[in-house]
Amino acid sequence: MKKTVLITGASSGFGLMLANNLHQQGFNVIGTSRTPEKYKGKLPFKLLALDVSDDSSIKYFTEKLFQHTKQLDVLVNNAGYMVTGIAEETPVELGRQQFETNFWGTVKVTNALLPYFRRQKQGQIITVSSIVGLIGPPNLSYYTASKHAVQGYFKALRFELDQFNIKVNMVEPVWFKTNLGHNAVSATNNKISDYDAYRKKVDAATQKGMDDAEEPDAVVKAIGKLIEHKKPKFSNPVGKMTGMILFLQNYAPKIFEGSILKSVQSAK
Ligand SMILES: NC(=O)c1ccc[n+]([C@@H]2O[C@H](COP(=O)([O-])OP(=O)(O)OC[C@H]3O[C@@H](n4cnc5c(N)ncnc54)[C@H](OP(=O)(O)O)[C@@H]3O)[C@@H](O)[C@H]2O)c1
Repeated sequence: MKKTVLITGASSGFGLMLANNLHQQGFNVIGTSRTPEKYKGKLPFKLLALDVSDDSSIKYFTEKLFQHTKQLDVLVNNAGYMVTGIAEETPVELGRQQFETNFWGTVKVTNALLPYFRRQKQGQIITVSSIVGLIGPPNLSYYTASKHAVQGYFKALRFELDQFNIKVNMVEPVWFKTNLGHNAVSATNNKISDYDAYRKKVDAATQKGMDDAEEPDAVVKAIGKLIEHKKPKFSNPVGKMTGMILFLQNYAPKIFEGSILKSVQSAK
């Protein structure tokens, strides 16, 4: 029997592509969105309401989920968004909200479903982190911090869940073409003039990363493989440059840091 897969944030980007792909392959797919009514009748899979940053929404969603399915094999923690901007110019409240969704939202959804996975002594939790969960580029400090937090949390949790036969895997994509950039949030009214010249450059470098983004099917394929694999790896960077980026950071840190500084200096 094909597995039942729950994907948070299945209205757009990776989540939508993955949900469509798995549905076509015969998986039982359940997706989520904060506004499922917008997609009524437009998607071939079930879409339930969930705002991962809202405790009451998670509680209501968990009750609804088990009205729709008796079986759950895989949770894909995919819902998330990106705060961009110079760290000092970004109000802490924006950073806090970033964590409410990307870190606490992911943790709380996982916690809501763990009793179920533990009872059935089987399950898989795949979390869409980011390459910025492994490296730290400028202009993305809170986003980077939220993904490092998620990365660290699951790095520890995997050992605790091993005894229950619950697999824990991370996916760490580089830039891919989705609506992440379009939906990004940035502070607009807290500019510090000392950063004016740098801000122009670093914004251009961030934009270039998004403009050069890869097609998202590689991420969908990577998650599909993790679902099929008997013993999948914990960490799974996706993207053409990930091997080089991580090699340089780990074994040639000066060259790595120099290349980040240069990419900002040379951005137009
Ligand atoms: N694209 C990239 O280059 C890239 C690279 C590395 C990692 N990622 C990660 O990939 C994941 C998916 O992003 P994407 O690139 O596919 O962007 P996207 O196209 O903007 O999709 C984001 C999805 O997350 C959902 N979402 C956002 N906030 C939510 C909340 N509070 N509660 C529930 N759902 C929420 C959205 O659903 P609704 O708006 O319908 O609620 C949407 O379906 C994110 O975790 C992102 O950090 C993306």
